Amino acid sequence: DLSETDPFEVARTAAEQVAEKTGVERHDVALTLGSGWGKAADLIGETTATVAATEIIGFSKPAVDGHVGTLRSVLLPNGKRALVIGARTHYYEGHGVRRVVHSVRTAAATGAKTMILTNGAGGIKEHWKAGTPVLISDHINLTADSPLEGATFVDLTDLYSKRLRDLARSIDPGLDEGVYCQFRGPHYETPAEVQMAKAIGGHLVGMSTALEAIAARQTGMEILGMSLVTNLAAGIQKTPLSHNEVIEAGQAAGPAISALLARIVAEL
Ligand code: 6GU
Repeated sequence: DLSETDPFEVARTAAEQVAEKTGVERHDVALTLGSGWGKAADLIGETTATVAATEIIGFSKPAVDGHVGTLRSVLLPNGKRALVIGARTHYYEGHGVRRVVHSVRTAAATGAKTMILTNGAGGIKEHWKAGTPVLISDHINLTADSPLEGATFVDLTDLYSKRLRDLARSIDPGLDEGVYCQFRGPHYETPAEVQMAKAIGGHLVGMSTALEAIAARQTGMEILGMSLVTNLAAGIQKTPLSHNEVIEAGQAAGPAISALLARIVAEL
């Protein structure tokens, strides 16, 4: 039970179970695959083990279509081991922030030094088209919550590693970057809220990643964040938003962004 235990102890237990069930003692890098990014697991390397997330302590069943509930151990061409997390718990599911960041803490406990967080997001920059991948340069956490408990004062400067963003741009110089605003969801924002996000410096709106990045920073992992613009945000695009549109944009862009991610992890 996550509510009455030290969350880091639960994460260590989860990491032991991952090691047992995958036969891989340590992982070097972890990736959380959000909407649209699911195909990447097949392209980055050879999957040596797939574990249902429900077999690992602290993980819950996926709540949304298009979110796969598995953890995979992937052997990269460079010999490194990647833990691919296809089982994100969203803040809007209401299980509390400990649940939301449990996979990130588990990743750290498996030994991962790099955390790659991906998501599908609404774009605020008008020239972005559905299917555009964007590097996250920073975030604005609009959940009014934190994964840190008690007097844990963690610096969030350069949260999304400049080094890793530069590495990604060395592979695709055309990659744009932007500030990601995490809203609680599960409703999409109103056009007025999107204008607020724009006014305070946001370029992407979504329902994940920021809380996970904060938890990842606390563990000392280096973070790469990437959004797939699945649609423009409400009021920026003229048509209403739909979850299907988000899924379809992910499916269309999947092969290209997966190939990009594969090239990035190969260079880590
Ligand atoms: Cl427009 N908003 C949020 N919060 N999440 C999204 C989105 C928009 N489009 C895809 N995911």
